[in-house]
Amino acid sequence: MFVCLFRMAGLLSYQRKTGGLLKVKRISGKNLVLVGFMGTGKTEVGRLLAQWLNRRFVDTDQVIAQREGKTIAEIFQERGEKHFRQLEKVQAEELREQQNLVIATGGGFVLDEDNSAALRQSGFVVWLTAELAVLLERLKDDDARPLFKNEKDFAALFLSRSPVYRRVSHVQVDTSGKLPKDVAEEIFRIIDGNGANEIG
Ligand code: S3P
Repeated sequence: MFVCLFRMAGLLSYQRKTGGLLKVKRISGKNLVLVGFMGTGKTEVGRLLAQWLNRRFVDTDQVIAQREGKTIAEIFQERGEKHFRQLEKVQAEELREQQNLVIATGGGFVLDEDNSAALRQSGFVVWLTAELAVLLERLKDDDARPLFKNEKDFAALFLSRSPVYRRVSHVQVDTSGKLPKDVAEEIFRIIDGNGANEIG
């Protein structure tokens, strides 16, 4: 009930702002894919978009954790990052064949070129960004992310990842200072053909 009301509120607010019906032209028959660095809100924004669009939501980290029966931190600790990346690769191949999903990817999912190609082939790819200081503030008490060890390494990874996200994405949305609901609405405007933020 609550979820339903929340979803309605989101849609109504979007339609009030745009004065139109939801057409979501740009993702018709495609997946809507969220990529970006840790802490940019891919999971929360993706869940909202899936509710509003009435699509199935796939969070790649959650699928991996469920399949392995372990948290992401445990997988990294017990089997290493290489094993985790192989599990991501298996999922990318599965997702290539699917349609009409909303997909939130783990921050490193698109490091593999085949994974990126699979996502772009079947989907409209949105890069969620945020200023480094914003991400550090959001994640300051987080102990679930094995690659968030200290601020220096985090900053270096942040810088090295940006070109990768840019390459795979169709559009970019800055989440700094915004609530997940606002980011989701911004993405709605883009997929409905009323937004800018094009990359390529
Ligand atoms: C990773 C990001 C994490 C998770 C794993 C590795 C990365 O996902 O997949 O810890 O390489 O950036 P989030 O982006 O959801 O934090």
